[in-house]
Amino acid sequence: MHSPNFLIMDSGVGGLSIWQEIRRRLPHSHCCYVADNAAYPYGALAESVLTERLATLLPGLEQSVRPDIVVVACNTASTLVLDRLRTLTSTPIIGVVPAIKPAAAASRSRHIALLATPGTVTRPYIDRLVAEFAVGCRVTRIGSHELVQAAEQKLRGDPVDSGVLARVLAPLRSNDSDMDHLVLGCTHFPLLRDEIRTLLAPEIQIIDSGDAIARRAAQLLAASPPPLRAPQPNRFLFTAEHSTPRQLEPGLHAFGFDRVRFLDTGAPQSGQKSGAS
Ligand code: DGL
Repeated sequence: MHSPNFLIMDSGVGGLSIWQEIRRRLPHSHCCYVADNAAYPYGALAESVLTERLATLLPGLEQSVRPDIVVVACNTASTLVLDRLRTLTSTPIIGVVPAIKPAAAASRSRHIALLATPGTVTRPYIDRLVAEFAVGCRVTRIGSHELVQAAEQKLRGDPVDSGVLARVLAPLRSNDSDMDHLVLGCTHFPLLRDEIRTLLAPEIQIIDSGDAIARRAAQLLAASPPPLRAPQPNRFLFTAEHSTPRQLEPGLHAFGFDRVRFLDTGAPQSGQKSGAS
């Protein structure tokens, strides 16, 4: 059977929202998922630290996993490091970037919003996306670490604090906002889709990049089919010893992983930007 082998990377559990869409479209896929919790949250890292972190991590992982496709399932990283990573490997790399183009194309009010990490919302990459694909569209940008953390906690079975969510989304909830499309520009946020949905007016469309990434993976595999191989078990790896792996395992079962394992990669070389929460 053609069972494509994916290496999926994020700072934490966010990339599971992308893996979920890949599995839906390509059910025979298997995956080695790497949650780089030693460097979590990526949205608080200085750009140079994040770039070096991924450039250091990828070659070793690639060698041990031998994937058909690498997915950098993180907007914070993809808006920064894809060009650099592509110089390090000939394996196809798919990055995840905010779905500003389809949101702007579908917006009638010409007002969309981007909800992402504080790192992503300030990237020049986003300025370029807006200049190219959202001409004449107002783009409200909201950066939040708190929602990243809320998604991490939800997957561990903890309740999501709707007060925090309401505070972060407040600029989008005002009666005089004419924003009609919300782009979830962080892979953690689709894991909170139901909670976000209940706080927004029903006519606001919520868009993420998951299905587009799965379609791109399917295209690449159709153009270059993987070798025939026996199906392998999915693996979920953390880069630092995690204190509560048991708490996470029930949440991971729904994504096709049986248990959590650890890789020892060390922490990134220098510290985080201030402002992590
Ligand atoms: N899931 C990541 C993203 O798509 C980032 C989360 C973090 O800040 O670590 O941007």
